[in-house]
Amino acid sequence: MDAAVLKAPAGMAVSALDPYDLNNILTPYPLQEALRGLGEIAWLERYGTCMVARYKAVGAVLENPTRFISSGGVGLSDIRKPDSWRPKGPIAEVDPPEHDKVRQAMNRIVAPGIIKGWEAAFRQVAQTLCDTLGPQADGVAALAEPFVLTAFTSALGVELHRENLIIAGNHSFNAAGPRNALFEESLKKSETISDWFAHNQTREAMRPGGFGAAVFAAEAAGDLPPGSAGPMLRTLIRGGMDTTISAIGTMLRLLAQAPQWWQAARADRTLLGPIFDEALRLESPVQSIYRTTAQPVEFAGFTIPEGVKIQVMLGAANRDPAAWEEASEFRPGRPGRAHLGFGAGPHFCLGRNIARLEVKCLFDVLLDRFARIELAGAPRYRPLNVLRTLDTLPLLLARG
Ligand code: HEM
Repeated sequence: MDAAVLKAPAGMAVSALDPYDLNNILTPYPLQEALRGLGEIAWLERYGTCMVARYKAVGAVLENPTRFISSGGVGLSDIRKPDSWRPKGPIAEVDPPEHDKVRQAMNRIVAPGIIKGWEAAFRQVAQTLCDTLGPQADGVAALAEPFVLTAFTSALGVELHRENLIIAGNHSFNAAGPRNALFEESLKKSETISDWFAHNQTREAMRPGGFGAAVFAAEAAGDLPPGSAGPMLRTLIRGGMDTTISAIGTMLRLLAQAPQWWQAARADRTLLGPIFDEALRLESPVQSIYRTTAQPVEFAGFTIPEGVKIQVMLGAANRDPAAWEEASEFRPGRPGRAHLGFGAGPHFCLGRNIARLEVKCLFDVLLDRFARIELAGAPRYRPLNVLRTLDTLPLLLARG
């Protein structure tokens, strides 16, 4: 970043708070509250970026893709600069109007009618998995991870290689932050799988009938820009699984801690949607994304120069007490605003209906088979720069 843009705009609150401090990553709530308390927008001096953490301000940034662009990168690094450590994403890091065509092509590939066709297969994966569960199991290692990795790779049509997929996903969410110890550690691991990962972004690696093959077909038909299908596979492999694993882990944790909701959902499966949304609000898998000012921008009474990165704190905005009463409580179906766990504006999550279907299929089977779930030990979160996801979730599962 140019030295010229590394200082706070005149009058803006300057903070030494560090969203990438390990304690803040593992227990983000005090940080989220402090960030919201800084005002509509503030300057994080450690990284030389602006930051928005209030619900209204986050919405205002995401809904203005002309002033706050994604093509500077949705991570901390400015991907337009030669020293960037991240390659450009073919959809998330493309701005309108160029983004519109890419998005339309991808919307057709994961249209609701197509996704619906995966339901029986997802349900089968859930049933097979639940058959193997004993009375005690880890909600991440024995449920969320194997379910999502199996269901999603079969729909996409790529190889299911559990360890490699987790390495790829974890590194992606570390690379969106600074080059800290978490980044360096996951970079080393990701280098060991680079050949495997590169192969899974080729047309030859796609199984017929999977939506990965449809991405390559769309490129061949001219619906996607030349050379974008491989990078699109990279995006789908890295962004489509860990996020859903995170959401399922959180749902299991919340339901184990609030058994009345498990009982309620057993009796009424329409509650699964509101429970999922409440989990995404409370423990947003993607804690933050970035935008960059396209030109000098007036925002909340400040003039932000061109080329400034803005950290958009989805996790903090989703617990904003100005948007929800008792915002830190688990209250599925609570009235009020839509959460921002899937983002907002033109980059609103492409795969949200896939994630919803996965959740519905897995929890339908779990609720059928288990009368109760309880925590069998303390849940532990995994240290990753921008993804909030459980590492372990010891559960007791009572059949009935
Ligand atoms: C619970 C699960 C998920 C969560 C919480 C989540 C979250 C998000 C968020 C916050 C964004 C906005 C990024 C931005 O504005 O810069 C996004 C975009 C995106 N998501 Fe998801 N996601 C989930 C599941 C999936 C799945 C299953 C897929 C697989 C297709 C997927 C693919 C994408 C893509 C391709 C984009 C970029 C869309 C665009 O730029 O137009 N996501 N997601």
